[in-house]
Amino acid sequence: MEKIRFGGDYNPEQWPEHVWDRDMQLFEEANVDTLTVNVFSWSTLQPDEHTYDFAVLDRILEKLAAAGKSVCLATSTAAHPAWMARKYPDVTRVDFEGRRHVFGQRHNSCPNSPAYRRFSVALARRIAGRYGRADDPAAGIVAAWHVNNEYGGTCYCENCRVAFRVWLRERYTTLDALNEAWNAAFWSHTFHAWDEIVPPSALSEHWGGPNVTAFQGITLDYLRFNSDSMLGNFIDEKAAIREFSPDLPVTTNFMGMYRPLDYFRWAPHLDFVSWDNYPPDMQSHPRMALTHDLMRGLKGGQPFWLMEQTPSHTSSRSFNPVKRPGVMRLWSYQAVAHGADAVLFFQMRQSRGASEKDHGALVNHAGRSDTRVFQEVAGLGEELEALAGEIVGASTHARVALVFDWDSWWAVEISDGPSRHVSYQQTLIAYYRALYEQNVAVDVVPVDAGLSGYEVVVAPLLHMVKGDLVARVEAFVEGGGVFVTSFLSGRVDESDNAFGMDAPGPLARVLGIRIDETDALAPEDFNAVVFDGGGVRFAANLVFDLVQPETAEVVGVYESDFYAGMAAVTRNVVGRAKTAGEAWYVGTNLDAGGLDWLFGRVLRERGLLNGYSGVPDVEAVARYRDDARYLFLLNHRDADSHVVADMDGVSLLTGAEMKAGEIITLAPKDVMILKSTRSPTDAQE
Ligand code: GLA
Ligand code: ZN
Repeated sequence: MEKIRFGGDYNPEQWPEHVWDRDMQLFEEANVDTLTVNVFSWSTLQPDEHTYDFAVLDRILEKLAAAGKSVCLATSTAAHPAWMARKYPDVTRVDFEGRRHVFGQRHNSCPNSPAYRRFSVALARRIAGRYGRADDPAAGIVAAWHVNNEYGGTCYCENCRVAFRVWLRERYTTLDALNEAWNAAFWSHTFHAWDEIVPPSALSEHWGGPNVTAFQGITLDYLRFNSDSMLGNFIDEKAAIREFSPDLPVTTNFMGMYRPLDYFRWAPHLDFVSWDNYPPDMQSHPRMALTHDLMRGLKGGQPFWLMEQTPSHTSSRSFNPVKRPGVMRLWSYQAVAHGADAVLFFQMRQSRGASEKDHGALVNHAGRSDTRVFQEVAGLGEELEALAGEIVGASTHARVALVFDWDSWWAVEISDGPSRHVSYQQTLIAYYRALYEQNVAVDVVPVDAGLSGYEVVVAPLLHMVKGDLVARVEAFVEGGGVFVTSFLSGRVDESDNAFGMDAPGPLARVLGIRIDETDALAPEDFNAVVFDGGGVRFAANLVFDLVQPETAEVVGVYESDFYAGMAAVTRNVVGRAKTAGEAWYVGTNLDAGGLDWLFGRVLRERGLLNGYSGVPDVEAVARYRDDARYLFLLNHRDADSHVVADMDGVSLLTGAEMKAGEIITLAPKDVMILKSTRSPTDAQE
């Protein structure tokens, strides 16, 4: 019976082999079924250029096969061996300051190094050839391929420079087109030969770090190029794996809202998405929910794997709090609620030494199973075992979409003016949080997604407008949908050039507004937006668009400064009466209360609030099968919470029968999964 996979990274090569037997017993005890292995073993697998040695990996896989475990088998290409860096110095990267690195650390190979590309693909091919064949005894245990690990970073070397020019030629064909796209007439940048172009770094266009560039167009293209370069590495390794393993799914572990890589461009090449969840603090549940929804959205709603999370604490931060009792379980179920079909950890046994020797693990250095962490993990393992046959593969139904776009993220944060204090991620989290607190399901979608299935589409900081987006937004609103966008939207085209028209550019028509001026103040300087003719007011800071309504109605006005009384928030009604659509513009960085007010109104008017809306710190998320709804109720509070069941159902973790209307008490950090039967035609809430 299909179950949610449970386990995680296992690096037994750091430990003597007699310890492995003990690990197998501990895995049994903890109900671990899936181990990610071989993530960082390149220097053992290939001790020199001409020698491969799979003896240790053979034994690890034999041991796991004998123990009846499944394996997520990595290709080990995320940390090149020392001999390679010595013999082929171009496998190491050149950093933003122009310094060529030498051997050390990991996640640091140049994606365009011919040596790195040749050796990494050769290794992936060997591994797939050895363990991906049907006749290999270990082959049966491989459940998925894990290419590389947490791709990331940027390189500015000679090979990348050359590859950048090739990438630009493919994109622009002619130098004229490139000069036009980059507005190269500015500051005497017109290029007359492809070889004149160099990567934008601290030595060239950047004078204040990676976000401060003289030429947004060049920097933007380098961000795209760098993301594509690493994607190229993934595609090459995947192709090598496919030579031997035609069917097994291939993934690489993403890092959630990770700015350097455009995961929407990557996702079509992965068979399933997986990601590593290391939230910055204990209060991150809205942010984690958004990230899970983004990861689910990368492949149009397909379930994903939670590839890594710490069972307890990390070790890389300046201080590393342990997860409080119940938190590991709560956050694991949060991932499942948002679409995860695997709950995996980093890692199974603690590292003996080096920088992760203090990182949390299922099994500590002493090999004990009577620790709090082990017991909590084992308890979760037992619950997931008991949930076999449930949840896996179930989907999410959302009426609200949040648009997420790496191009806009990059463009708004590398822009000179109006404000360097605008954070794409924090803004997206702020908008998402307002929906999250109403327990309204959200799909996170790319700018080229179909919008017609949604009732409300929220697109904060839609700075760059490209493709046929405007036509789709207009059709969506004309069809009766509610579109909400924010300050600094509609400002640039695909090349980061301004539109030759009023802001917000091609979005102006559907929004029914015009903006001549945008004020930006220090983060600590607040204005306020007054709604309802003075009924309510909320603080706002950072950016203040002085909005001039054309066809839009004014919903909120600025309270002070020379633009007191001018529109800050507008709503343009398109069409008539019952079928009318609306396009909202939020011209400033409204505080949380302001966003709650705004979305409270939109969601209420659209009938999208439900019985779980607004219950403080209780998250209610559902996954659906044709015949069942699985409602996850997650109590993020340190105190009991109470909610009223909206449907009859059975609590899968306790077996208790619940009736609609019954009060459910959730203990601190506790979780309830309420399974209700439904027919495929049932309306969603
Ligand atoms: C990342 C890596 C792992 C490990 C963990 C530690 O997610 O993929 O190898 O370093 O962080 O938190
Ligand atoms: Zn490079």
